[in-house]
Amino acid sequence: MTVQIRGQRVVLTPLTPADLAWLVHWERDPAVARFAGQRFDSLAAACTWWQAAQADPRHVVLAVRLPSGQVIGDVELVEINWGRREAELRIRIGDPRYRGRGLGRDAVRAAARYAAGIGLKQLFLRVDVRNVAALRCYRAAGFRSRGRFTAGRRKADGLADMYLMVRALDAGPGGGAGIGPAAAGPRAAAAD
Ligand SMILES: CC(C)(COP(=O)(O)OP(=O)(O)OC[C@H]1O[C@@H](n2cnc3c(N)ncnc32)[C@H](O)[C@@H]1OP(=O)(O)O)[C@@H](O)C(=O)NCCC(=O)NCCS
Repeated sequence: MTVQIRGQRVVLTPLTPADLAWLVHWERDPAVARFAGQRFDSLAAACTWWQAAQADPRHVVLAVRLPSGQVIGDVELVEINWGRREAELRIRIGDPRYRGRGLGRDAVRAAARYAAGIGLKQLFLRVDVRNVAALRCYRAAGFRSRGRFTAGRRKADGLADMYLMVRALDAGPGGGAGIGPAAAGPRAAAAD
């Protein structure tokens, strides 16, 4: 079953190879790379990253789309721990025209529903304390800070203080039935 998680204003669907050129383009934007890092710097590298994600039961990558189907960003669940039923959430609204308009929090809420639907009980994330837009977005989407730590991101930037933020998830449809790697991934999880 193909995933399609509807927010109020965005839809999460599988990220496809056709979307990757947009991701490469956005990752060249310093405003994205500053806080979200850079996963790849070429289309070939993006394809390799995408293929690895498809094969990894601990990694889910979804596109954030407008109702028209236009991709404006992506959201990931990484390092999914099926024993502890938790994962780290990462998000980028890559298209600058759509940042700061409430679409990020809509996508994060939708991703939380998706995560609950595949049986996860908790999401966490790490965010640079200087990333005010992200902090507002995550707080609005139900994440709360659980601590502050200092971490190195990229050599050029030196060390930065980060918040660890956590959101507990409600039980998904069916009480989390179908938990585990076989139920995860954009291809297999149920839509909500
Ligand atoms: C972080 C991100 C996902 C948030 O998505 P978004 O759609 O911009 O977020 P939202 O519109 O839901 O919320 C952002 C809030 O910050 C505010 N904001 C935006 N830019 C701001 C700025 N420079 N300073 C202060 N507040 C700002 C918005 O007005 C909004 O505030 P509100 O609570 O009053 O509505 C998106 O901005 C993004 O991808 N940024 C670049 C990459 C990144 O930082 N990723 C996250 C890494 S942890």
